[in-house]
Amino acid sequence: MNIVVKESKVGATKVKKNVDSALRRYLLANPSLSDLVQFIFINNRGILAADESGGSIAKKFAAMKIEDNEKNRRDYRNIFLSAEGLENYCGGVIMFEETAAQKADNGQLFGDLLLDKNILPGIKLDRGLVELPNFAGETWTRGLDDLAERLEKYFAMGFRFAKWRAAFQIVGNKLPSATAMDLNTTILAVYASLCQNAGIVPIVEPEVVHDGDYNIETCALATTKIIKMLMEKLSEYRVDLTGTILKCNMVLAGKKYVVQSSSLDVAEATISVLKNTVAPKIGAVVFLSGGQTPEQAAKNFHAIKNLNLSEGVLPFPVSFSFARALQDPALTAWCGKESNFGVAQKEFVKQLQRVAE
Ligand code: 13P
Repeated sequence: MNIVVKESKVGATKVKKNVDSALRRYLLANPSLSDLVQFIFINNRGILAADESGGSIAKKFAAMKIEDNEKNRRDYRNIFLSAEGLENYCGGVIMFEETAAQKADNGQLFGDLLLDKNILPGIKLDRGLVELPNFAGETWTRGLDDLAERLEKYFAMGFRFAKWRAAFQIVGNKLPSATAMDLNTTILAVYASLCQNAGIVPIVEPEVVHDGDYNIETCALATTKIIKMLMEKLSEYRVDLTGTILKCNMVLAGKKYVVQSSSLDVAEATISVLKNTVAPKIGAVVFLSGGQTPEQAAKNFHAIKNLNLSEGVLPFPVSFSFARALQDPALTAWCGKESNFGVAQKEFVKQLQRVAE
């Protein structure tokens, strides 16, 4: 693969329209799914998950008394997608479908803006969680019905990766049911096979939700079972693992547990679980931040990366794909006010550098 991502200093250059970016030329040559995965992580870059659903945005905005309308949602995404130097830290950005239809200040669709900056645009294609009847508190993820049509549409727009999230709850010390694990990992595998048939790299995201009262061992157990089952399903559905990205939780005690895990414990437990579950040929593994504070998420991510570097155990790239831990400081600074746009963008870039450097 022969892609050069130009180094530029954050804040030093203006984003300008470049209809002939290295990435656009590269895509014309029809790179393989595995090459696309590699492209995202060149120079240790990660992924920005700017794809919170309408419901999640409404809650975030309500908490800050920001009116939840289309203009404010666009302005909010614009803080992140138009940040100068984003391409130095992120090789991919995941968008929500509404954002993919919205425009940047220069009139370009946001996806085109990213392509011009040598960032691969990605799209969240699941349609959220639905309760699983007869399994209190458990869910399955919908969105398969018109998935093939949506994949075709986003491929034509230059999107080359997609995301699908399944959520798993640990209640007390009770692990997710075998039924919920089986259903959700099957759906993830069907989604992944449809993505690859459409020329799109699937991010498969089985998330053990951090918001619970469980210890780190329980999290390790649940994460192990789920990823193992997911690997089996991906293989059963003949998914090309080299062209797949696994997005998972870090292994750590639940948010409500009395003893919070140290970064070293998180790093050791996470690496051990990945080593025992993930097929070595997977394209890459990325972590969600899962409601950890921005500081915690950055610290735990660095601990995982450093331990892996020093021990060299994981045979695949490991990076970040955070939403809240990258965006929350900027949201607080912005508060829905146009006059705060510049400050908010600076907060975002600062946090991005803290995580990625
Ligand atoms: P958080 O980093 O906020 O957990 O979000 C990542 C994500 O993509 C959840 O689906």
